[in-house]
Amino acid sequence: MLKSGPNHWGSLAKFFHWTIVVLILVQGTIGLVMVELPKRPNVIPVFSFHKSLGLTILALAVLRLAWRAFDPHPRAPASMPHWQVLGARAGHALLYVLIFAVPISGYWFDSVAALRPLYWFDLFQVPHVFAPDPGMKDIAVDTHETLFWILVVVAAGHALAALIHHFHDRDVVLRRMLPFARS
Ligand code: HEM
Ligand code: HEM
Repeated sequence: MLKSGPNHWGSLAKFFHWTIVVLILVQGTIGLVMVELPKRPNVIPVFSFHKSLGLTILALAVLRLAWRAFDPHPRAPASMPHWQVLGARAGHALLYVLIFAVPISGYWFDSVAALRPLYWFDLFQVPHVFAPDPGMKDIAVDTHETLFWILVVVAAGHALAALIHHFHDRDVVLRRMLPFARS
């Protein structure tokens, strides 16, 4: 089923969730490795790939949030205490903010550094919406890196909570989000 319901996540919500998780894992790894490579012209394609994949994640985050506006949200299990429901809601809101803020900060860095035109997988040029400002480069890159590590910590806490639901509380929370699984 494409749409979610009171007791299940629809296939589109699951697709967005797990595609973004996998792409963020790949993207974070590429980011951490590429900044350690010797600064030679042959690293430019790696940086370009990172930027293109990052813009793809941003586009998926936009589509995901837009779909969420039309998609009913499954109910929390009745056994879940109120403080946990509020905590989960706050955590999810923060994750939404971060899947936007991390790529936007990368895009901001690329714009202020203005080293070369930005292309999406060599297919079309993406305009730099932020004005070039080399004085902001260090702040922009630190913001990108810091937001990434905040995302890592919040996502790790979120994944741990999902595992506690499954193995300790033995409820449907993780099962109903798994691809191909029906709760
Ligand atoms: C969810 C999306 C993204 C993630 C998870 C991510 C993650 C990272 C990470 C972990 C680093 C290494 C930071 C460090 O240790 O210094 C990095 C660097 C970088 N990112 Fe991203 N990034 C994302 C999106 C983007 C986007 C959309 C752009 C540009 C359009 C971008 C441009 C860059 C650049 C240019 C660097 C290198 C900074 C330097 O030269 O030190 N990133 N990114
Ligand atoms: C980069 C990593 C991750 C991000 C950014 C992320 C983001 C999110 C967001 C924003 C939601 C809320 C969906 C909504 O209300 O529309 C969510 C739900 C969920 N996530 Fe993740 N997630 C990540 C990794 C994981 C991992 C690794 C697991 C499993 C171990 C997981 C399990 C779940 C589950 C079970 C739900 C549904 C919770 C419920 O029914 O209320 N997530 N995730």
